[in-house]
Amino acid sequence: MTLKCSIQLGIPDIINKHGKPMTLNELVSALIINPSKTRCQKLVSSGNNNDEEQGYVLTNASKLLLKDNPLSEYDGDEPKLNNFFNEAMASDARLATSVMIQKYKNVFEGLNSLVDVGGGTGTAAKAIAKAFPKLECTCFDLPHVVNGLESDLVNLKYVGGDMFKAISPADAVVLKWILHDWNNEECVKILKNCKEAITSDGKKGKVIIKDMIKDNKKKDDKSIETQLFFDMFMMKEWAKLFADAGFSDYKIIPILGLRSLIEIYP
Ligand SMILES: C[S@@+](CC[C@H](N)C(=O)[O-])C[C@H]1O[C@@H](n2cnc3c(N)ncnc32)[C@H](O)[C@@H]1O
Repeated sequence: MTLKCSIQLGIPDIINKHGKPMTLNELVSALIINPSKTRCQKLVSSGNNNDEEQGYVLTNASKLLLKDNPLSEYDGDEPKLNNFFNEAMASDARLATSVMIQKYKNVFEGLNSLVDVGGGTGTAAKAIAKAFPKLECTCFDLPHVVNGLESDLVNLKYVGGDMFKAISPADAVVLKWILHDWNNEECVKILKNCKEAITSDGKKGKVIIKDMIKDNKKKDDKSIETQLFFDMFMMKEWAKLFADAGFSDYKIIPILGLRSLIEIYP
C-alpha cells in the first residue's frame, strides 16, 4: 500500500526531477496534497535532528517506478481501470517491441502491410510504423479502445472491430499477448480469422505471435517456474492450435526473457 501510495503521489518522478538528493521538507512541499496531511512528516522530522540534512535519491530498483521507464507498469494519472490496463499493456509493448525491432528486423522484411490485432492503444504498431515507414500498419482493437484515437504517422491507422468476426486484410497479422487470454476453441477461431486476413488477396502472408511458450531455452529455475505457471494457466498446446486453425508450418524465435516470437504460415 505504501508503494502504491508513493507512486500515486508521483514521488519517484518528483525525486528524479529534483536532480539531487531531496530532503523530506523539499519532498513534502513538492507534493500536491492537503497541508493537513503533512502532519506525519513533521512528527518524523522532529524525531531526528539530522533529518533536515538527509536527502532522498532513487535506487536502481526505484527507477523502475518512473513513468517513462519502459518497464514501468503504472500510470498514476489514469485512475480508471481501462486506462490503467491499456497503459500497462503499452508499457510492456514499448519494451518487447523495441527489442524485436532492433534485433529481429528480418521478421518485417518483405511486408507491405501489417495489422496488430488487439493492439490496444497502438504502442507496438506505432513503434513498428516508425521503424518501417514503408510498411502500412493498422492497430485493430475493440471500438471502445480505439475510438477517437488518431495517428500522427501517415503509415498507421486505427480500426475498430471484433477479431472473432473479421480481421482487416494484411500481409502479416501480429498477435501480442492475445492468445493466452482465450480458450483453445476461441484461439482457433481467432487464428482462422487471421489466416483469412493474410490470404484474402491470394497472397500467403504470415501471423506473428508474441507470447509465452513452453520450449523457452532459458533454463534458470525462476524462468522455468514462471513458465510452468503460465503453461498451467494457459494450457496451450501451441502446435495443435496452429494445426487446428489450418496453418501448415511455424517457427519459434525466443526474444526476451520468457517471451517468444512465433511465426506461423498458411
Ligand atoms: C492482453 S491485451 C494485449 C494488448 C497489446 N497487444 C499488447 O501486447 O500490449 C488484449 C487486447 O485485446 C483486445 N481485445 C479483446 N477482445 C477483442 C476482440 N474481440 N477484438 C479485438 N480486440 C480485442 C483488448 O481490448 C486488449 O487491448
